[in-house]
Amino acid sequence: MYNVTDVRVNYLHNPVGISGKIQIGWILGSDKKNVVQTSYQIQITRDMDFDNPVYDSGVCASDESAHVTVEGMVWESACKYDLRVRSVNNYLEMSDWSIPVFFIAALQNTDEWIGEFVSAETEEDKDNSKGTYVRKAFVLKGRIKSAFVLSTALGIYHLFVNGRKVGDDEFAPGWTSYHNRLLYQTYDVTDYLQDGRNAIGAMLGAGWYKGVMGFKRYNNHYGMQTAFACQIMITYEDGTSEIIVSDSTWKGSDSPVIFSEIYDGEIYDANKEIDGWDTVSFLDESWKSVAVVPFSKNTLVPQNGSTVKEITAIPAQRIFKTKQGDTVIDFGQNLTGWIHFKVKGKAGDKVELNCFEVLDSEGNVYLDNLRSAKETVVYICKDDREAQYHPYFSFQGFQYAKISSWPGEPDISDFTAHAVHSDMEETGTFTCSNPDLNQLQHNIKWGMKGNFLDIPTDCPQRDERLGWTGDSQIFCRTASYIMNTYTFFSKWLRDLEADQTPEGGVAHVVPDILTGKVDDDRLLKDGTHSAAAWGDAAVINPWTLYLTFGDKSVIENQYESMKGWIGFMQNHAVDGIWNYQLQFGDWVALDAEEGSYFGATPNDLTCTAYYAYSTGLFAKMAAVVGNKEDAEKYGSLYNEIVKGYQAHFFDKNGILTAQTQTAHILSLYFNLVPDAYIEKTVAGLLRLLDKEGGHLVTGFVGTPYFCHALSQNGHIREAYDLLLKEDFPSWLYQVKMGATTIWEHWDGLRPDGTMWSPDMNSFNHYAYGAIGEWLYRVAAGIEIDEKNPGYKHSILYPHIGGNLDYVDASYNSVYGPVSVNWSCNENEVTLKASVPHNTTADIILDQATRVTDAAGLDFARIGNNLSAIAGSGDYVIRFIK
Ligand code: BGC
Repeated sequence: MYNVTDVRVNYLHNPVGISGKIQIGWILGSDKKNVVQTSYQIQITRDMDFDNPVYDSGVCASDESAHVTVEGMVWESACKYDLRVRSVNNYLEMSDWSIPVFFIAALQNTDEWIGEFVSAETEEDKDNSKGTYVRKAFVLKGRIKSAFVLSTALGIYHLFVNGRKVGDDEFAPGWTSYHNRLLYQTYDVTDYLQDGRNAIGAMLGAGWYKGVMGFKRYNNHYGMQTAFACQIMITYEDGTSEIIVSDSTWKGSDSPVIFSEIYDGEIYDANKEIDGWDTVSFLDESWKSVAVVPFSKNTLVPQNGSTVKEITAIPAQRIFKTKQGDTVIDFGQNLTGWIHFKVKGKAGDKVELNCFEVLDSEGNVYLDNLRSAKETVVYICKDDREAQYHPYFSFQGFQYAKISSWPGEPDISDFTAHAVHSDMEETGTFTCSNPDLNQLQHNIKWGMKGNFLDIPTDCPQRDERLGWTGDSQIFCRTASYIMNTYTFFSKWLRDLEADQTPEGGVAHVVPDILTGKVDDDRLLKDGTHSAAAWGDAAVINPWTLYLTFGDKSVIENQYESMKGWIGFMQNHAVDGIWNYQLQFGDWVALDAEEGSYFGATPNDLTCTAYYAYSTGLFAKMAAVVGNKEDAEKYGSLYNEIVKGYQAHFFDKNGILTAQTQTAHILSLYFNLVPDAYIEKTVAGLLRLLDKEGGHLVTGFVGTPYFCHALSQNGHIREAYDLLLKEDFPSWLYQVKMGATTIWEHWDGLRPDGTMWSPDMNSFNHYAYGAIGEWLYRVAAGIEIDEKNPGYKHSILYPHIGGNLDYVDASYNSVYGPVSVNWSCNENEVTLKASVPHNTTADIILDQATRVTDAAGLDFARIGNNLSAIAGSGDYVIRFIK
């Protein structure tokens, strides 16, 4: 048995919005071991007519099954293509053709976009965050074969055709650097249309485009009016085609959404509902004509995946009364999304829910850490029939909601929380024998679910929710184990580039809504771009995607952006030491002065360490894409920076001048320590750890690499000890305090019940969840081989320790699942490992003295370990430690 399954285009199942080159990947199934593909064939066709393919690769001798590029094809705009693959392996078995998958091509040229941006608002509405409707009825000329709507908005929109919402996307078109890149969505509406008359319409809200964003509460960041644009691309059965577009003949009206904003919530008056507004029978004579809003169509880019959706539903766990007498719903999980409720009242009755994250030490409603964000949802009933509702254009970060107003007695079954985030396949699983660690993994994943809502945000609740680059960089590797982040980060990185300064500086937040809008903010008045560890997202995130997927096109796409950022640092470095305006340093580290956000590690050191790290990565990536000149140039720049770093930050005795945990961690993890000083530096780190009673006092910069700095230098026991600390400050301290997500501050909630100042105290901030990658990479030992990335060759090197009886983890790679399960009985270890077909792995047995069952593999000793090269298949290995 040999088969091809799980065929993907651009790492996605059946994607829409495709233009230009595509990359195809598939998974090979076989009951044999050591399976390697020797050739493949791909066919692409229309209408499932594989006898007449539009593309046939022919038989290609190749072992590549993950990023097979089809280039030079001109797809027809708004057209569905079917694709199938077959493969031959080293046993000379030929698979059947795979089950066909499809992709839908977007417009292939921007100048094909003719729909106008139409608005039911005027400029007078600039400070009004109400919702509006736009609509149009149209007549089809005959029977249709296919129809696609390409649509987008200035603001947020929901699309309706003949009374039905199209698709299940939320918060479309997402948040991008709108003036440079506005995404449009592609929907197959063939089944929504009917012969003759049809109606199309959209509901619009302010969203990121014109609503309030940023803690200075500026609105109208991109424009003053919401607007909708679309074109319906129709192919008739007789082969003719027609394009129906949004234009000045559309009609507009206010909608029942009286107010809606990202931070403050939504007010919906059901009395203002307009029955049947999106159907053909509706008479829109009384509606006003829309205004056509100028907006450059050159900015339009097809969205090709990871749209935001309602992903997980959680029923209310309890409704209770606080000491202060408030009625509160508890969902038992801190999350991002909304409360879906059903309500029965009389006309004019009001529902008001105030969402929030935590109770105070007395068990009362705590709103202070939301800062100015109101997170309030109001619904006004129109009659005594049961109604159901959740916000259209706003999301909340919450575990609790205070019921400030409700007709009658609320019942627990009236409320369900919906986690809303970018739709990404879950790729990673990790469980072990320690329930607290499992809860930590849960919290990390929910931190991700809470902050991957179209862009990687810092937090989802207060008046921020911005694409802080540093947070995303720190968490990128962990995120890329947990879910398929390919499209999500690729999209965001294009915006990062779009918002770079002409000199290559990287905005602190992407999309950048801070530049020019920070007034006298005590921090940001000193700069809104280019901080170490933040700006380095420009390089580290593409590198992480390259490692995870083995995909070179990320490097190609981000090449100039990365180079720009390195150039920026180089321009501002003095004698190889770089520093620039506002730096966040080791943000919110506990070695900061009382009440300060800035950790004790000097900025010169953090900046230069990242300058070296990013430059080194860029030199490697230049080599990967065959740019020898840059590889050499940046390779020598890297060497120079490292030399400068060593001269500047180590004293003549080989001691780091900055005696902080983070200075040691960065120096070790980034390989900045001269060989002769490595032992001393490790000893220094252990001493600093000891000084804190085995606790970390690191912030955003040092924390992600702490355990790596220990385990890579022979201190796996200390790494596990640190990971498993349960008292303050530690990862498991949060778990013990009942956290269901990751906190922004180690001392968000202190042992004495007090909290860190409400001006910056999020309970859903994924940054410290960056420990997640250590669990996958080291505890489970599912590691990527930099020289053969994307798991084409894996390094399976589980580290036994932490008093764990077992660890069970898997990652669904582009070649299929890589998994490790180790269990330990006294000194005897059983290791089960799966290596996907068409890949290989080094299997390394941690501190093995003797192998009792080698599962047919040939183990050789390397230092304290035994190691074997494995082809594809499942292995059960037993060894004595
Ligand atoms: C955010 C952080 C961010 C930081 C910059 C904060 O307000 O919430 O996560 O990285 O500012 O230092």
